[in-house]
Amino acid sequence: MKILVTGGTGYIGSHTVVALQQKGYEVVIVDNLSNSQADIVDQIEKITGLRPELEVFDLANRELTADFFRRHSDVLGVIHFAAFKAVGESVEKPLYYYRNNLVSLMNILESMQENNIRNIVFSSSCTVYGQPDILPVSEKAPIKKAESPYGNTKQISEEILQDYIKVSGLHAIALRYFNPIGAHETALIGELPLGVPNNLVPFITQTAIGIRQELKVFGDDYPTPDGTPIRDYIHVMDLAQAHVVAVQRMIGQQMKQGFEVFNLGTGKGYSVLEVINAFEKVSGTKLNYKIVDRREGDVTQVWADPTFSHNELGWKAEKGLDEMVGSAWKWEQAYRSRS
Ligand code: UFG
Repeated sequence: MKILVTGGTGYIGSHTVVALQQKGYEVVIVDNLSNSQADIVDQIEKITGLRPELEVFDLANRELTADFFRRHSDVLGVIHFAAFKAVGESVEKPLYYYRNNLVSLMNILESMQENNIRNIVFSSSCTVYGQPDILPVSEKAPIKKAESPYGNTKQISEEILQDYIKVSGLHAIALRYFNPIGAHETALIGELPLGVPNNLVPFITQTAIGIRQELKVFGDDYPTPDGTPIRDYIHVMDLAQAHVVAVQRMIGQQMKQGFEVFNLGTGKGYSVLEVINAFEKVSGTKLNYKIVDRREGDVTQVWADPTFSHNELGWKAEKGLDEMVGSAWKWEQAYRSRS
């Protein structure tokens, strides 16, 4: 029952490690700690009472990856989170993104094949849909040309998986995340962006706690009810549970095709101002924010049609917006009081 979680000390990875351990899986993490810290495994151990094994190296290194898999050929499946994920940075450093995100995936697939490991869950993104023509967006919606090298690495990775499963006998599930936010209820793990956050919720909580002076709301002139963009925010623990379900589906040989794709969203969209209002209500604080120009590359609105995931995975996101922003706030406060 051993699962390899690449990027397991990162935000979504660490929450998924907890969910896996709580379902009885043994976890080995590989992470190069480029955007996370090794002591996350201490926090995971505090939550679950189990310490995941951690190996620190870069999966873009073919030799190290091959060696790791030879030593862990008893792994039943791989959940591959490890990747760079900053949209803006990927525009500045495209080769850095392509090399890291694509080479590591290819190294993993090759090593899996060599060691007869058959199952991989891949972290994809709703970014593959761009601005969808039809909302809510289902898995059948067309893939739009990627807006950034980061988005392109997700599209190309899905294509690599699709091509490779045809000739290798591997099984792959790509999970297309909408906007993961929030933290584990213990506030022992959560989202910890290095430097200035790119994403809305960490920026909100860092502003509220006084690390950032004010939140900039990127545009209120979008064609939405309050003029701010709409996203499908999903609690990171709901997302984590979906990975466990995906792993079980693979190991239980319940997949209907060698390559499957699922949306992971709630099916409900909230605007930026609605998220801010929910945060102010739940935290009892007044957020300092101002409306500024639009951010380049932002789509107007996107939310998931989660019907296929409900029907096929038997999985459904359960936590609402208040709980999401409340847990993010609890995490921010707990983390700052510890450090
Ligand atoms: N926003 C602000 N101010 C901020 C940060 C964000 O107003 O300081 C707004 C954005 O304009 C957007 C919304 O909050 O309308 C959500 O922005 P995020 O950056 O939190 O999330 P995105 O929807 O832009 O990003 C997500 C994923 C990426 C993915 C991208 C594709 O985090 O991995 O969708 O569009 F690439």
